[in-house]
Amino acid sequence: MEVLLVNIGQLIQVRESSPITLKGSEMAELPCISDAWLLVKDGIISDYGKMENCPNGNYETFNCKGRFVFPSWCDSHTHIVYAGSRESEFVDKIKGLSYEEIARRGGGILNSAARLQQTSEDELYRQALVRAHEIMQYGTGAVEIKSGYGLSTEDELKMLRVIRRLKETTPLTIKATFLGAHALPAEYKENRPAFIHKVTHEMLPQLAGEGLADFVDVFCDKGFFTVDETAEILEKAAHYGLQAKIHANELDYSGGIQVGVKFDARSVDHLEYTGEKEMEVLLNSNTMPTLLPSTAFFLRLKQPPAREMIEAGLPIALASDYNPGSSPSGRMQFILSLACVNLRMLPEEAINAATINSAYAMNVHQELGCISKGKKANLFVSHEIPSIAFLPYAFGTQLVDKVMLNGVWI
Ligand code: NIG
Ligand code: FE
Repeated sequence: MEVLLVNIGQLIQVRESSPITLKGSEMAELPCISDAWLLVKDGIISDYGKMENCPNGNYETFNCKGRFVFPSWCDSHTHIVYAGSRESEFVDKIKGLSYEEIARRGGGILNSAARLQQTSEDELYRQALVRAHEIMQYGTGAVEIKSGYGLSTEDELKMLRVIRRLKETTPLTIKATFLGAHALPAEYKENRPAFIHKVTHEMLPQLAGEGLADFVDVFCDKGFFTVDETAEILEKAAHYGLQAKIHANELDYSGGIQVGVKFDARSVDHLEYTGEKEMEVLLNSNTMPTLLPSTAFFLRLKQPPAREMIEAGLPIALASDYNPGSSPSGRMQFILSLACVNLRMLPEEAINAATINSAYAMNVHQELGCISKGKKANLFVSHEIPSIAFLPYAFGTQLVDKVMLNGVWI
């Protein structure tokens, strides 16, 4: 099937040869073609150019009437498979409890785990599918989804099977991450090594045997898992071919960034507590620093030092962290707004961070992240907008109009 998009006001993020990542000052460069056309063949971007050279042919044609075309967002960090919601903890937080206090009282991740354990695989799939459709309408074309609300072997496998089912039944490009060490189950409070052993010797072999995960994650932070526990899990996971994408330095200078880089993690995520030492380590690595500005917003955390990181020459990826506790939203347009307002990223930097760099952070950069010949045709047509900066500026307006995934309008 061939689809020709014509009269595109601005074709955003066009790259003749696509860079693997964008670092430092490169992040502010966003190549675009105004008054453009784009040809899609069999789900792949086949060609593009200026309207004055628009091809003539027997194509299904879509007239963009001056609206903009963006590559789909790559949301490289989410937890969209979960049961129910946690708005009562949201109210507790308004009344003054901290995220860590809620977690200590058995709320937080353990609360979601208790609900998930009582939810059937079919029901869990049904709830996650609603969120998958929601994020597609918001312009996301690729998403990484974590387990981590199972905490028992059986329930972690259940979550990962739901993610596999989403891979099979939605047009999203999906990567699955095993997050066995998300929180310590209450019954292991006095015996942490036994839980780590369960993760490494029971959960990992089983899920690897079924080929259920692409990555491994650990919540390496104050009050959750230590650097040594993280290292033990990452080492074992590497034997099963699972690269790391870890939660690090959200609540303290946890050493998470260092241990992630040591194990050649694909990404280290959150990074509210990033200092010069951490930046130095990241500069000498292939690990993508990933910021989750909606979590810092929703939990009123200290903001990660995005400007300093970019000025030091680092790349940055952005993701939503969509989950029931710390970021109950997967709306990437709002993530961009928060990155601009709270992290002082430029709109161009935020768009690069949510496309090319986040595609790298989930290892889909060969097929996604920009408008290039040969890449998957995952894109969206905006509503009428006057400029690129309008997208993060109009933070409450749904500016994604039509979505195409794998060359098909959805
Ligand atoms: O990324 N930080 C750890 N995990 C999630 C929160 C999960 C939850 O509260 O349910 C996060 O913020
Ligand atoms: Fe997370």
